[in-house]
Amino acid sequence: MKHHEHDDAAARLLRAAAAVTGTGAAAAAGLGAWGVVVERRRYRLRTERLRLLPPGSRPLRILHISDLHVWPGQRKVQEFVRSLAELEPDLVVDTGDNLSHPDALPWLLETLRPLFRFPGAYVPGSNCYFAPRPKNPFRYLWRDTSREGRDEAPLLPTQDMHDAFDAAGWTPLINRAARVRVAGLELALSGVDDPHLGYDRHPGFLDPASADLRLGVAHAPYLRTLDRFAEDGAQLVLAGHTHGGQVCLPGGRALVSNCDLEPERCKGLISQQGVPVNISAGLGTSRFAPIRLFCPPEAVLLTLTD
Ligand SMILES: [Fe+2]
Repeated sequence: MKHHEHDDAAARLLRAAAAVTGTGAAAAAGLGAWGVVVERRRYRLRTERLRLLPPGSRPLRILHISDLHVWPGQRKVQEFVRSLAELEPDLVVDTGDNLSHPDALPWLLETLRPLFRFPGAYVPGSNCYFAPRPKNPFRYLWRDTSREGRDEAPLLPTQDMHDAFDAAGWTPLINRAARVRVAGLELALSGVDDPHLGYDRHPGFLDPASADLRLGVAHAPYLRTLDRFAEDGAQLVLAGHTHGGQVCLPGGRALVSNCDLEPERCKGLISQQGVPVNISAGLGTSRFAPIRLFCPPEAVLLTLTD
């Protein structure tokens, strides 16, 4: 990667930070440096507990990862993700945007390899299909990015990635419903292809009444997506895409969600039509906007109990 791309991204962020905080250039430069060097690598594990299982069930532990946006050579995030295997989750759910570079697949698979020994499920995001381009890295801050010029973006090795996930025994949920049995529980899974690209077609749940848990999975938490999962009877929905706002105000307040979900609801555990929705703030950043402010990267361990 060329360093001037980082520099361009940092310079744009400094202008954005100065604009939104009203601070001077020196303070904004300090924030920008923090965001590039420190915050972006301050990986943390968020934990949540939810009472969703039938009486008498043993706890079910779901590890939710999202938005890795891997490019070759990212050792810190690789170490963090590999260490998550020590949690011994019952199920790993990957809500997409795994790649940020056409040559990143081997690095991604090395990053995820320790997690492949657990049951898993996945959906793709736009950054599983199209690599980001260097121009206007912060354009998502001020306009809809879902439709613009993706035909020009370099293609990512989507099928090879999905083949590797399938070979590891992970369940594809790309406009697809599935049943998996983990931890003595019968899970009904329903997933959609990326709503940000308009690829989503909801499959509903298979035999929903007989499942111990109905889990909806999507990359981007558009309101139509969350509402449809609720109407289909989901008891929990997992999504990513927002990066938690990525460049936030002090206290973590997001300015944008990069979708139609209100920015103040774009990370953490929210509720839509009474259904809990876990939105991961993600683990990575776009390769051309490698910065986070007041929004550390995260993985989430959800413990579901009776
Ligand atoms: Fe993403």
